[in-house]
Amino acid sequence: MSGLVTVVVSVWKEMLFEASKLTLTLTSRIVLSVIDPTVAGTVLPAKSSSRSSSIEKSSTANVDDETGKLTDALFKKKDNDIVYVRGPYGNGFKLEPMVERDIIIVAGGLGVIPLRSILYYVLDNRDQFDELYFLYGARNPDEFLFRNEFFQIKDRDDIDCLYTVDKDTTGTWSENTGVVTKLFEQLQRIDPQTTTAVVCGPPVMYKFVIRELLKMKIPKNMIQMTLERRMKCGVGKCGHCALDHIYTCMDGPVFTYWDTLHFRELI
Ligand code: FES
Repeated sequence: MSGLVTVVVSVWKEMLFEASKLTLTLTSRIVLSVIDPTVAGTVLPAKSSSRSSSIEKSSTANVDDETGKLTDALFKKKDNDIVYVRGPYGNGFKLEPMVERDIIIVAGGLGVIPLRSILYYVLDNRDQFDELYFLYGARNPDEFLFRNEFFQIKDRDDIDCLYTVDKDTTGTWSENTGVVTKLFEQLQRIDPQTTTAVVCGPPVMYKFVIRELLKMKIPKNMIQMTLERRMKCGVGKCGHCALDHIYTCMDGPVFTYWDTLHFRELI
């Protein structure tokens, strides 16, 4: 099955899950378990299922790509099948360092999913923030997520959107081509003293994006990034997400660049 599938999350009775009652920060992580011992315990980031700046106040989750064991299993679920939810775990992006400042959101590939919540939070509370720049790169146009809605917000005059794909495999791409760091050349009016950056993408991207942000003299403690690691238990037990002496599932996954400077192994 492909395309958008809505999985009805009928939650275990005792949990009586209501998203609106959980204390979730932007990009909070919840754990979905499907009734299949081979995939139970896989960690998924909390996703908004529509143009929402916060987790949906309903019990549905949209899954639009079959990319792993858990999503494979979710795609096989029918309405009213049971999945389990636990969490939230870890931290999220901090909003305080963004208020009344310019914001650069840099997303690569699937990293756009957690950043999309921040993007819409800022757009929905536009008067609390200054300039907003959204840089997003995907491998090709087919992997450019949320294409329709991101092209719609591009028309707004209160955000600068810069999009790129590594390669135009379709012949229909109208935006930039090349890696996401090339988009920094088009950012002209950045004042580093009033700017906060948030970054999420594949590990290989961080080194180059951070280098660009530092070149622009954005303070190290004003660069927030998620350090994605393969997570299993989500509660500091299995060691899958260990990074130096910390567990990204418990202590992260969001860190400032400043926080990570003493990590021996980073990205
Ligand atoms: S996911 Fe198991 S320790 Fe972090």
